[in-house]
Parts: sequence; structure tokens; C-alpha cells
Amino acid sequence: LPSTHSVTLKINGAEKRLELAPWTTLLDLLREHLGLTGTKKGCDHGQCGACTVLVNGKRINACLTLAVMQEGAEVTTVEGLASGEALHPVQAAFIEHDAFQCGYCTPGQICSAVGLINEGKAKTVDELRELMSGNICRCGAYPNILAAIEQAMRESGRSPK
Ligand code: FES
Ligand code: FES
Repeated sequence: LPSTHSVTLKINGAEKRLELAPWTTLLDLLREHLGLTGTKKGCDHGQCGACTVLVNGKRINACLTLAVMQEGAEVTTVEGLASGEALHPVQAAFIEHDAFQCGYCTPGQICSAVGLINEGKAKTVDELRELMSGNICRCGAYPNILAAIEQAMRESGRSPK
């Protein structure tokens, strides 16, 4: 059996072809093979959300998926959200609302919020809270995080009730 597999993905708009051990997670591919360290490794077991990225527009925990399973996928990390000089509206809202303390959970919170807004499922503040519950913040910055996401939702015309 070959010890590496070839995988091609589009990461933040650029096509990347890599030779990887088959057990390499998407998270390790991003951090260790591409140097995209914005995506954080908290628990490495699907429990904290620090590794959340968007795959084909949907949020997933990058620690729970093998890179080879994502052949051909479009991956967006926190590094790829801004367009040129302009921050993504969710990033701007996090800054405006001081929605972080140590910042370790922040890239995952932001990617998760972008995915949540795309999903359009959160119709109320309670649903927003529930649908963001996979992203843990050890600093307890939740009130500001929720305020930032609510603002981003309002701006996108999906204001929660
Ligand atoms: Fe992936 Fe914690 S590092 S969920
Ligand atoms: Fe420190 Fe969330 S800001 S873990």
C-alpha cells in the first residue's frame, strides 16, 4: 500500500495538491502542511469548535475529517474570509463588539457564525445560542460573541427575534 495519498483541494480560492499520509486530518493539513495556523487545535476530538472551517460553504470541525475525504472540496478558513482589505462582516462585528479575550476560540467562532448565517436556521436568539453551542469559549466571552453574531445577522437581513 502506498504510504501517502494525493489530494487536491481548493483552499481559500487557491488549488492545492498535496501528498499526505491517509490519516492526516483536514486540521493538520491546514496548520502543518499549509501553515494556515488561524484555524486552532483545541481538543482535537470534536468537542470545542476551535477548528471550525467552511467546506463547500458548510461549517465542520476540521479535526474530525480526514483530508483525503475532502478531495475536490472548497475550504475556507479564517484567513480566507476577508475580501482584499475589507474584513468579512462577521469579523468586523467581532471587533466592534469586543467579542474575544484570549482569542483562541475566535477563528472557529467566526467561521461557525459565517456557516450559521449561510444555513439560515437560527430564527431566534435562543436558536442562535443553540446553533453556536458547539463553539466553546473558555474565557466566557459569550455575551459579546452573541451580540456580534446578532449584528452580522441583522446586516445580512436575517435578524433573529
Ligand atoms: Fe476540533 Fe476541538 S479541535 S473540535
Ligand atoms: Fe478565549 Fe474564547 S476568547 S477562549
